[in-house]
Amino acid sequence: AIYPAIMCGGSGTRLWPLSRALYPKQFLPLVNDTSMLQDTLLRLPKNSCDPVFICNEEHRFLVAEQVRQLSQSQGTILLEPEGRNTAPAVALAAIHALEKDKDALLLVLAADHVIQDKVAFHQAVEQATIAAQQGKLVTFGIVPTHAETGYGYIKKGAEQSSGVFDVAQFVEKPNQDIADEYLASGEYLWNSGMFLFKASRYLEELAKYRADILENCQKAMANVELDLDFLRPDKDAFLACASESIDYAVMEKTDAAVVIPLDAGWSDVGSYSALWEVCPKDDDNNVLKGDVIAQTTTNSYIHSQNKLIATIGVDNLVIIDTPDAILVANKDKVQEVKKIVEQLKKEQ
Ligand code: GDD
Ligand code: MG
Repeated sequence: AIYPAIMCGGSGTRLWPLSRALYPKQFLPLVNDTSMLQDTLLRLPKNSCDPVFICNEEHRFLVAEQVRQLSQSQGTILLEPEGRNTAPAVALAAIHALEKDKDALLLVLAADHVIQDKVAFHQAVEQATIAAQQGKLVTFGIVPTHAETGYGYIKKGAEQSSGVFDVAQFVEKPNQDIADEYLASGEYLWNSGMFLFKASRYLEELAKYRADILENCQKAMANVELDLDFLRPDKDAFLACASESIDYAVMEKTDAAVVIPLDAGWSDVGSYSALWEVCPKDDDNNVLKGDVIAQTTTNSYIHSQNKLIATIGVDNLVIIDTPDAILVANKDKVQEVKKIVEQLKKEQ
C-alpha cells in the first residue's frame, strides 16, 4: 500500500508577515478556503492510507485540528522536538511505515505545495508505483520556467519505461550561473520535492550514504512514546541527528533515482510573487484579499487582515497588513523578505 508522509516542518519565512514561526504558511488558507496542509490531504490518491504528518512539537495541535476538520481518519502525527531537516523526518516516517508493512511505499509530500491538476498528479503517482515497487527512488520533475536557484535540478537520462526516466544527474540548489546553464540546455527538470519509494529502499540508501542519520533515527524510534494521537521519538537520540535534507543526503548520491515528468500546475509558493501567480486575479491582474479598495492599481497582491487598505495609481506591489506588521514591497524583490525575518530574529 501507499503511505503518505507529509512533511510539515517548514517555516515559510519568505511569506512573512502572513506566515509566522507559530503559524507558518502550510497552516494558512493562502490560495483558497482550506489550508495548504488540508489541500495536501484532499488530493491524496484514493489508494493511499494511514497518512503520517511529521511536524514540530509546537505545531501539534494545529496539525491535529486541521486534519480533524476534514473529518478524515486522523492519521499519525510524528513530533520532532526540533527540526533536523527532511532526511531524518523521512527516515522517521519510513521506520514507522515499515513496522506496519514491510513492503510499504512511502509517498513523501510537502504540506505547502499547490498542484492545480489533481488528475495529472494521480496519474504520475500511479506511474511511479511500478518503478518504486522495483526498488527505484522516484522523484517528480517539473519543467522549469526560469533559472531558480532555490530548487534541485534533475538531468533527464534514458527513458526506462513509458514516462519514467533515469536520473542522469541530480544537483540540489545550484548557483545562478549553473542554473542559467541548466535552463538554457533544456535537459533539466526541477525536483518537486515529492518522492515515492519503498520505505525499506530509502533506509538502505540512507545507510549507504548517511549511516549516522539512520542510526540516530532508529534509536529515536526504538524509544518512541505514544501520547494520544502523537508519536514522540526519543528526544536525545533525535537531537543527536545531523540536520540534512533528503536531497543532499540521498537523492544527489543514489544510483537508484528515476524521474517522472509532472505537468500539473505545481508551485511551492515560495514567495509572494509565486503566491500571486497561483491565485485567481481580477481584470487588473490584482489579487485582493480582505478589506481592500484598489483604484488604478495593477499586477499587485494586496492582503488585509486588519485595516482597510486603499491604493491609487500603483503597479506590481505587494502589500500585507496584519495586526502587528505591515509589509510593502516591489513584487520583483519579494525574495528579500527573508532578510527582514533574519533581521527581526537578530533583534529579538
Ligand atoms: N517535519 C519536517 N521537519 N519537515 C520539514 C523540515 C523539518 O525539519 N524541514 C523542512 N520540512 C518540510 C517543509 O515544510 C516542506 O514542506 C518540505 O519539508 C521541503 O522543505 P523546504 O525547506 O521547503 O525545502 P526547499 O524548498 O528548500 O527544497 C526542497 O523543495 C524544493 C521544491 O519545493 C528540495 O527538495 C528541492 O530540491 C526542491 O526543488
Ligand atoms: Mg520549499
